[in-house]
Formats: sequence, C-alpha cells, structure tokens
Amino acid sequence: MSRLVVVSNRIAIPNKSKSSAGGLAVGIMDALKNTSGLWFGWSGEISEISGEEEEELDIVEKDGITYATVPLNQNDYDLYYCQFSNAVIWPAFHYRIDLVDFQREAWEGYCRVNDLLARQLQPLIKPDDILWIHDYHLLPFAAALRKIGVTNRIGFFLHIPFPTPEVFNALPTHKELLEMMCEYDLLGFQTETDRNAFVENLDQLTPLEDVAPNTHRAFGHTFKTEVYPISIAPDSIKQMAEGPLPPKIDMMKRELSNAKNIISCERLDYTKGLPERFLAFEALLEHYPQHRGKVRYSQIAPTSRGDVQAYQDLRHQLEMEVGRINGKYGSLNSTPLYYLNQHFDRRLLMKIFRLTDVGLVTPLRDGMNLVAKEYIAAQDPEDPGVLVLSRFTGAANEMTGALIVNPYDRDEVAAALDQALTMGREERISRYNEMMKILRENDIAHWGETYLKDLRALPERGSEKS
Ligand code: G6P
Repeated sequence: MSRLVVVSNRIAIPNKSKSSAGGLAVGIMDALKNTSGLWFGWSGEISEISGEEEEELDIVEKDGITYATVPLNQNDYDLYYCQFSNAVIWPAFHYRIDLVDFQREAWEGYCRVNDLLARQLQPLIKPDDILWIHDYHLLPFAAALRKIGVTNRIGFFLHIPFPTPEVFNALPTHKELLEMMCEYDLLGFQTETDRNAFVENLDQLTPLEDVAPNTHRAFGHTFKTEVYPISIAPDSIKQMAEGPLPPKIDMMKRELSNAKNIISCERLDYTKGLPERFLAFEALLEHYPQHRGKVRYSQIAPTSRGDVQAYQDLRHQLEMEVGRINGKYGSLNSTPLYYLNQHFDRRLLMKIFRLTDVGLVTPLRDGMNLVAKEYIAAQDPEDPGVLVLSRFTGAANEMTGALIVNPYDRDEVAAALDQALTMGREERISRYNEMMKILRENDIAHWGETYLKDLRALPERGSEKS
C-alpha cells in the first residue's frame, strides 16, 4: 500500500509535549503507522531566521512514524498564522465577518508560507505517496505543490465550517482561495451543509460541471467532494474516564458531590459562545431559584491564539462577566461559576466529565465539536450525565440524544439546563445509549479509513486532468 503523508499546521509528536495527544492526533497516528507514514508541519516554534533564508527541517522517527517539522520566523508566524489564518479565515468561516481583519500583506504572507512549506516537503515525497492535508491554514497547499511539479494524489480535510456565498464573498481573495482548493483531488467536509456551501460558492463564481456523483470540474480541474464527520475513539475515552482517580480528583469528587455540576471545556475562542453561555447560566439562577446554591458550573477555557486581538478582548470580557455573576449569585459558602483559564490533561478531563451531571457545549458555530462526543463517551453507562448541545455544531447531526439548543437564546439554554439537572436516570440512560451507538458506528478509525479509501480509489493524476 502506498505511503501516507499527512500535512497539518500543528503536529503532535509523542512525548514532546507534557499533555496526552488528542483523539484526532491519535487517529492520524494510527493511519500513519499502517504505512510507516510521514507527518509534516510547523514545529510550533518561532525561529530567529528572517528574510529569504530557509529553515532546516527537523526529522525524527517514533513508533514507525516519521515526523518532519519546521519552525516559522516571526514575520511568517504573524502574517500566515495570526493574521490570515486566524484573523481572516477563522472568523469568516465561522460567520464572524465583523471580526475579519483583512490585509493584503497577510494574504501574501499566507500564500508565501504555503509555498515555502510545499518546497520543504517536496524532497521528502516519493512517487506513489498519497498526501492528506488538514485544515484552513493550508487551503492553497495543493496548488503550491502542483506549481513545483508534484503529481501525487492530494486530499484535503476541512475541520471547520465552510461558509455560504454571502459570507465567503466578503473575503477579498475568495475567488483565488476557491480556485486553489480545486487543485485538491478530494475535498472532505464535516457536514453536508459545508459541502453544499462549497459547491454553491463554486457554482456562483465559475462554470461548474458535475462529471459524476460528487465529482466536479471547475477552473480546469477535476475533483471530488465528500462528507466525513470526524469523531473520537469512544472506548479509549471510556477507559481514560474509568481509570483510578488521582488524589487531586478524589478530593475534588467530594467537593463536587455537594452540588449538581455543569461542565464546559474548550479553547478560549469567540466561536464557542462563552459570554452567551455565562448569561444563560445566569438566567438559570435567575428563573429557577431552586438551583441557587445547589449548582456549580465549571468552565475550563485555556488561552488560545493569545497573540490575536479578538482573543485578548474575549478574555477580558469573560473575566469581567465571571466576577459579575459570582458577585450577584455567590454566597459566603458557595461560588456558582468556576472559570479556569488553564490547560487540563485529557486523561484528567475525561475523569472530570464522568463526575459531572451536565456537559454544556454551546458554540455559536463549530465544524464538529469533539468535546460533545467525548463528554458522552466518558459517562458512566449506569448513571450518565446529560449533554446540552448547540444546534450550530456539526456534532448536533449525530448527537441526537442531546438537548439541542440555540446558543443565542439564553432562556432556552437555561430551560435545557433545568431539564438536564432534573432528568431521571432512565431517560438519561436511554439518551446516552442512543448516542453511544452512533459514536461506536462512526469512530475516529472509521473516519480515517473511509477518507483514505476514497482518496486511494481516485485515478492517478495526469490521466484525465489538464
Ligand atoms: C481548531 C482547528 C485546528 C487547530 C486547533 C487549535 O480545532 O480546526 O486546526 O489546530 O483549533 O488551534 P491552534 O491555533 O492552537 O492550532
């Protein structure tokens, strides 16, 4: 079987970071191990080098996988990562045009870094490798590789939503981006809505021909679009959650048992709907006074992309809101809202999920949301917690046993929280079973296998392409 090469902005080298690898990283590693594959991407480090000089690749081999990483210089990190990826594409693709800060210099930097990474990867590519590129940092990556003569099959998976034309067209370079994306052979999306939005954008911008089911021709390229909802490894999450409690958590368990517990955990990001969620929790305390002093909401939100202005603004806003709500509803012996701007190890987190009564996951927009899936997989099957989930997540399509809410409607979220906090065990078990069945059918291994099977099945480039 031909070797798999994975490219992503961030890569997870085992033992390099203190925390355990996330589910997605584990899924990708499994796929890579099957073909002694290569994982290439940014090392996460900023180098001193500037100007035209090129960085050296750092290559390590671990457990049958080769990891090739490269640092970015400060200017490239600012333009490619902070500005274009995270202050243009990220907000726009999550429908936050108001937060888009477009600058032509950043667009150029984004394309330049894609070209640079493509040039650095090229010498490592073997003729029959298949390449799988991940996420919005690398939309032009196939185009960059094609320019320098790479003819291998190249697939792409977008982890975030794809916006409808009204939103996408607001990006000054939207047509260029779309044209570059058409140089991939297979484009994978989280949901049918995202795939449809992509095709609709194409249809509006250029003559589009459907040559076979889900196979299109546009801008002189033939490519396939498909939906692959990303998932988790439910049994490994279950194991992490069931494991013995470290002393720290054992103490916390006693503490938690004095109240009903609501838990949320995500990167501190404006797409996650944190201020709206805090207000919904306040509405719960206001309209359902029976819960006052008896419910505790813990929000874990480690800092993310702290060099981007919108993230700094959000952090300040949250800090103020927490103080206001606790000031209003706290008492001398109870604090309703615990806000932890800290990173938690995944193994610990899964144990915490299991000890809580409600998982509150209410993004304003989210490609999939794996925390929603992890929360369910971490539960005790005999006494599971309840998931309250935003309808604007990809996960809402599968997690039908959750209480599905509109995160913009604080009263609806408060009512769902009340329902979740008072739900009987029988109903909780039946909702949990419904979701676990789906999680077992479509786990992370299934996601990777289906994608790669489709990519491998595509014809070799050159046969019918221009
Ligand atoms: C999202 C994106 C990923 C990204 C992750 C963490 O899940 O889809 O591509 O790696 O956030 O963000 P960061 O900017 O820290 O890599």
